[in-house]
Amino acid sequence: MIVVSVTASAPGKVNLVLWCGRQDEHGYHPLYTIFEALNLRETVTVSFARPVRDRRTVDGIGVRTVVTVADSTTNERLSDQINALDPERNLAVRAVHLVRSIARTQGKDIPPVDIDVVKRIPIAGGMAGGSADAAAALTAANELFGTGLDADDLEECGRRLGADVPACLAGGISLGLGYGDHMTRLDGTSTPTHHWVLLLAHDGLATPAVFHHFDARGMGREELPHTLLNEHENLARVDGTELAGALDNDLEQIVRTIRPDLEATFHAIERTDALGALLSGSGPTIAVAARDRDHAHSLAATLSREPSVAGTVITSGPSNPAKVENT
Ligand code: C5P
Repeated sequence: MIVVSVTASAPGKVNLVLWCGRQDEHGYHPLYTIFEALNLRETVTVSFARPVRDRRTVDGIGVRTVVTVADSTTNERLSDQINALDPERNLAVRAVHLVRSIARTQGKDIPPVDIDVVKRIPIAGGMAGGSADAAAALTAANELFGTGLDADDLEECGRRLGADVPACLAGGISLGLGYGDHMTRLDGTSTPTHHWVLLLAHDGLATPAVFHHFDARGMGREELPHTLLNEHENLARVDGTELAGALDNDLEQIVRTIRPDLEATFHAIERTDALGALLSGSGPTIAVAARDRDHAHSLAATLSREPSVAGTVITSGPSNPAKVENT
């Protein structure tokens, strides 16, 4: 059978621990971070193009995105906004482009392709939605083009596309060193499920802007651990209560200073019986740890009444690595 289409999925993430060093000569920050992949997965289908095309195309790669994050009106508006963007800036397109260039070095002739992205991860929220698109697109294109890239090769490709892409490829609970893009999986069969409520903000936050404020106040750590610390060795084995005690994000303090709405949300969380909470990545989404799914629902009901909370998403982790769903 000739395969004409492959669908792959990849998870979003929350950083359980995010420690940031000082900006280096490349403009990036060395990190010591521990990711948990979430059961909020983007789906990307890469197909050999059909004759009728309903999408923007660049260099023989067409892309169309459907957002399924919120209510139908918001989803439609967000889908239109993303579909109006220059496809060259789309991480899924760049991922397919990269795998196609590898396929060509292997002597393969790749016809035009279409990419369909279904988004479930909150957009511009610090949850790696764009990076998950890239991770799923790398995985799908590798299968469709028969390039035979292994996990290390894909991680290397992911690193070239964005610092969070390797985490979305790796899934589970993983240590990220370097720029947070050199992964070591930490979870195993004894890892319990962790329950989360994600609190969405009304306005987005750009990662470079957050790092700019962080740098301006000289908040970067002089030294970062080069291996997993003893205090974090258990993170992939503990339940939500113990996990909550270890949650730590260096970017949270500065983001709470520049975004009073998020400060208000954190105060509201303190008035609940949540296990703990932290800013997700560079924000503005806040991840709240819950005991179980029922507790997550009751926290979401309470916190969704806060004016600073634009919406809530209930999810859990850790989630599987990026993987092929069907061909
Ligand atoms: O790699 P990615 O394109 O996802 O990163 C987005 C931005 O986040 C970068 O342009 C940089 O400003 C910032 N960043 C950083 N240090 C990292 C990761 C990201 O400064 N380790």
